[in-house]
Amino acid sequence: GKVLSVASECVPLIKTGGLADVVGALPKALAAEGWDMRVLLPAYPGLEARLERAEVIWRDSDLFGGPARVLRGSVGGLEILLLVAPHLFDRAGGLYASGGADHADNPERFAALSWAAAEIARGAGQDGWRPDILHAHDWQGGLAPAYLRYGPPARAKSVLTIHNMAFQGIAPASRLGTLRLPGHAFTSEGLEYYGNLSTLKAGLVTADRITTVSPTYAEELMRPEFGMGLQGVLAARAADLQGILNGVDEAVWSPEADPEITPYSTRSLKGKAVNRQRLLDEFGLEAVEGPLAIVVSRLTDQKGIDLLAGALDGFVQAGGGLALLGAGDPGLEGAMQAAAGRWPGRVGVRIGYDEALAHRMFAGGDAVLVPSRFEPCGLTQMYGLRYGTIPVVAATGGLNDTVIGATPASLAAEAATGITFHPVDGIALSGALRRLVQLHADRRLFEAMRRRAMRAEVGWSGPARAYAALYRNLMS
Ligand code: ADP
Ligand code: GLC
Repeated sequence: GKVLSVASECVPLIKTGGLADVVGALPKALAAEGWDMRVLLPAYPGLEARLERAEVIWRDSDLFGGPARVLRGSVGGLEILLLVAPHLFDRAGGLYASGGADHADNPERFAALSWAAAEIARGAGQDGWRPDILHAHDWQGGLAPAYLRYGPPARAKSVLTIHNMAFQGIAPASRLGTLRLPGHAFTSEGLEYYGNLSTLKAGLVTADRITTVSPTYAEELMRPEFGMGLQGVLAARAADLQGILNGVDEAVWSPEADPEITPYSTRSLKGKAVNRQRLLDEFGLEAVEGPLAIVVSRLTDQKGIDLLAGALDGFVQAGGGLALLGAGDPGLEGAMQAAAGRWPGRVGVRIGYDEALAHRMFAGGDAVLVPSRFEPCGLTQMYGLRYGTIPVVAATGGLNDTVIGATPASLAAEAATGITFHPVDGIALSGALRRLVQLHADRRLFEAMRRRAMRAEVGWSGPARAYAALYRNLMS
């Protein structure tokens, strides 16, 4: 079968978070299951030039305020469709926002992307490629299933995947007409959301199926603490909602073959010690005697970085060290830099985005900390597993589904792959860090845990089978 995936970001072209990793990995994973998946993306500045063998497959003289066309081509083995619409996407600054404020025309920008997706799903592509499934991601793709539903009958079925319920694509009700949405859709059963319209909700009520990126998050989304106001909508569609875990791209994340590091494997962890020493040197952490923890993260409220700033002193006093790489909220950046100032030789902080350094950190760390308040799936705990860098995670969302927390029972059963804590607060995190120091001190036990973590299944083959089954089911 054929699938059109529509999203706002995709590795290797453009990334702000895990969404891009997932959208970029799905086509390869699904190809192994016999599916032909193409990814439709906005042509942000510079992307058009990277498309190989580009040809125009769709044109519109007025797509939400200007001419637009879709180019088909390939990038790094992926079949990509780029929506070229300079009035919407050819601008400097961030994808969704610049200088902290959303682009005022975000609703139109991603309505345009969704419109083009629905048109291609109806078979409007001039190359004759006609998808069986339209698979949209997050609020940016939310209107694609809606246009498919509200327009003339279409053969293609639709799937919406929620990667993060915290972003809902809110627009004033007055934009309904400009966004080419029918008045009858503006009800509480439709896309109305507390007097506004929500493109995410539009997708949730019109898609044939809904998925999210872990089974636990699928459950959490139906509760007020996580549903962010849309819990009722999700609960009403529980029968059509499914949690499918993300995978890790093992061509990129493998300690056996990572060009950025000294390789190692479950057979010999010698290389890991070399990487650890290099990482200590790189961050100037000469005073660390206990476990070396790493964090690679957006620095936002979601990620619980404020909790970490508070719990750090006790961990460092017990011998622990921390290397952190991240960027985001200026207050959190400042708090982490202050911690580094307080603990020279024990806490090191790099503000910025650096893929290569992230690889060296996963290879050199003893543990990766992910104290998220909510986490739909999370990728860094899975990189941690793969690299034998013990995940210390909040027991929420995908973190809960991918890490088996150390307890007397799970250790005795030789099942533990990490440390989990709950509730998500400073006290529980401090407790988890104390546990890390204790476990790390027992060298044989910690090595056994590392090896078990490295053997945990985190690849894409399982998830790809689940998506393939979902698509097949929809088509039958
Ligand atoms: P989210 O999408 O919520 O940010 P994920 O864990 O799903 O969380 O994905 C985050 C991705 O971004 C991972 O691939 C992670 O390695 C990467 N990442 C986050 N911050 C940085 C950074 N400062 N430098 C390099 N990679 C980063
Ligand atoms: C979102 C979530 C993260 C998830 C990623 C990819 O950014 O915050 O948990 O891993 O999407 O699905």
